[in-house]
Amino acid sequence: MPTRVPRIAPSEITPPEVYFSRRTLLAGALAAGVSTLARGADEGAPAGTVPLHYTANPRYAVSEAPNKYAEIAGYNNFYEFGTDKDDPSRNARAFRTQPWSVRVDGEAEVRGTFTLEDILRGQSLEERIYRFRCVEAWSLVVPWVGFPLASLLARFKPTSRARYVEFTTLYDPSRMPGQRAAVLDWPYVEGLRMDEAMHPLTLMVVGLYGVVLPNQDGAPLRLIVPWKYGFKSIKSIVKIRFSETQPRTTWNLAAPNEYGFHANVNPAVDHPRWSQATERRIGAPFLAARRPTLPFNGYADQVASLYRGMDLRRDF
Ligand code: MTE
Repeated sequence: MPTRVPRIAPSEITPPEVYFSRRTLLAGALAAGVSTLARGADEGAPAGTVPLHYTANPRYAVSEAPNKYAEIAGYNNFYEFGTDKDDPSRNARAFRTQPWSVRVDGEAEVRGTFTLEDILRGQSLEERIYRFRCVEAWSLVVPWVGFPLASLLARFKPTSRARYVEFTTLYDPSRMPGQRAAVLDWPYVEGLRMDEAMHPLTLMVVGLYGVVLPNQDGAPLRLIVPWKYGFKSIKSIVKIRFSETQPRTTWNLAAPNEYGFHANVNPAVDHPRWSQATERRIGAPFLAARRPTLPFNGYADQVASLYRGMDLRRDF
């Protein structure tokens, strides 16, 4: 486990819903500052970001060094804020994420509209350092802060007919200027099989580097599925729907021969226009930047069994 991670006793942890509630945000941030500032100033989040209380989950540490905050928050795909990698960090600066609510519907006993505070109630935040591999063959190592998606979905009591879960991003062209152009079929939608959604690696993310998620990385709530290409990790979620049938997904709709539903990281199956055998680690020195891509992005031990019997060339 990296030594820079502050250790916090459970009794000291402010519940996340308190953190994200508008009235207490400032007070909480000030109280938290003391313990989270233990992180080195040059590697962590800059001043002005809002610290979160979390515990590091050492099970998910990786041997590679995390990318710097500035790399993670400065090189993004978030087409709602522009298509260039440096567009989201500029264009999402003024994006307001409070108040925020999530609509839950479909094949579940508990449905309705939940505020972000409702969503976070009872969850304890943990830091997990995950490899993150974009389909465009670049990669990052990111200390995400979040909670297992499974612990959220269980609260809605999915019915036995729920075989998939679909996620939808906010649609509001007045706040997301990229949606004024028809580059994608808005709103952005993604989906997982129920067993993928309930897998312990699948994370609902609200922060990184110990602070509230920067807007350009999908604030206030995004998914991270570390064994799949980055486009599955949908940002700024406003809707969760349980369904019996496989949901439509944005990049599959845009280019079905290039982006499949499963999108498991697979160095043996190339994208039609480029190789997936290697990746470029953002921020690494030029000669060290390219590295081999690992099956399931290095998480094969934990997830390969989910796909037993499937032809991963056909079901890419
Ligand atoms: N979610 C939404 N709503 N819109 C997007 O354009 N881009 C996806 C994914 N989630 C995207 C999205 C892609 S292609 C990638 S690689 C990751 O977000 C990038 O996440 P990051 O910017 O935090 O690295």
